[in-house]
Amino acid sequence: MGILSKKITVLAGDGIGPEVCREAIKVLDAVAERFGHAFDYDHQLMGACAIDATGNPLPEATLQACFRADAVLLGAIGDPKYDHNPAAPVRPEQGLLRLRKALGLFANIRPVTAYDVLLAHSPLRPERIQGTDLLIFRELTGGIYFGEKGRTDDGAAYDHCTYSQAEIERIAHLAFQSAATRRRQLTLVDKANVLETSRLWREVVQQLAPAYPTVQVDYLFVDNAAMQVILNPRQFDVILTENMFGDIISDEASVIAGSLGLLPSASVGSTVALFEPIHGSYPQAAGKGIANPIAAILSVALMLEHFGLLEEAEAVKAAVQQALTQGVLTPELNADQPSGTAQVGSYIAAQVAAHDESPLYLENIGVGLSTII
Ligand code: IPM
Ligand code: MG
Repeated sequence: MGILSKKITVLAGDGIGPEVCREAIKVLDAVAERFGHAFDYDHQLMGACAIDATGNPLPEATLQACFRADAVLLGAIGDPKYDHNPAAPVRPEQGLLRLRKALGLFANIRPVTAYDVLLAHSPLRPERIQGTDLLIFRELTGGIYFGEKGRTDDGAAYDHCTYSQAEIERIAHLAFQSAATRRRQLTLVDKANVLETSRLWREVVQQLAPAYPTVQVDYLFVDNAAMQVILNPRQFDVILTENMFGDIISDEASVIAGSLGLLPSASVGSTVALFEPIHGSYPQAAGKGIANPIAAILSVALMLEHFGLLEEAEAVKAAVQQALTQGVLTPELNADQPSGTAQVGSYIAAQVAAHDESPLYLENIGVGLSTII
């Protein structure tokens, strides 16, 4: 891979979003310096900060900046002043949902890894979670999130869930392709015993399966899957599921990693891809320097893979592994000798910038997405 120049639109957002984005950019700058690339950042508003500034959670200027970009880096959005007001006419989340739809980001990919050095930090028993390496493919632009919603004349409320065959096929292909390069196992999580949309998901996945003869497909109802994910997470390789089930299962699965602050995600689709930590805006921690920047930094590693910069992505992942091994971690993962958000970011950036990584640290920490985005 030669020297690249990339334009990245940064939507730092709300709460801890700006803090973790700052560290992710530090790491990107270290990558640029070491490998000779040029990353150009275009900061734009989205979420509660955009509502405060413009009245709109996704201003037109932000959307246009995303379309112009080679990739989007998102911090987090959300503010309690909206969460506690169900009648709020505009909400930060609307910005994110509109952005996903507008950019056609139909697949959200969330890797979940149990890091050996952090096994003790999970509330789950180490022997249950050790070796977990799973990838969730969550459908992101359809289903109940985007169906018609409203109130009836008699005061009831409804949210419609609809999926077309095409919407299921396009993400299912990505999940099959990914499984084929991993441990060749695909689990469709649905509620086909109750929901018609889930029955369509099963039909479509069954139709596609013969095209991927090396991949073994199995099916789990979402209630059982919620239990299996924490009872025996090693049984999963690639999980494919619809929008809302994926939202729920991925937060649940993050418990395996030991902190929500470790999990990155990539959203891909028809145009520019977007990279974001799966955690929220964590407003209680904002400005305190205690937010874990690793999820944002690993999101940048996924971005680099997406650009085809595999060596660069490996350098970031190796640097994160060093921070984990050396205990350079925010308080939720190292209560005795905590580092601040900026310290963790600087440490990881310095590891990336250093050219003398020992092979000991070069082992892949298992994000393992290089072939699918
Ligand atoms: C996520 C978040 C969002 C979602 C919210 C903020 C709308 O929970 O990315 O998982 O539900 O998709
Ligand atoms: Mg969520």
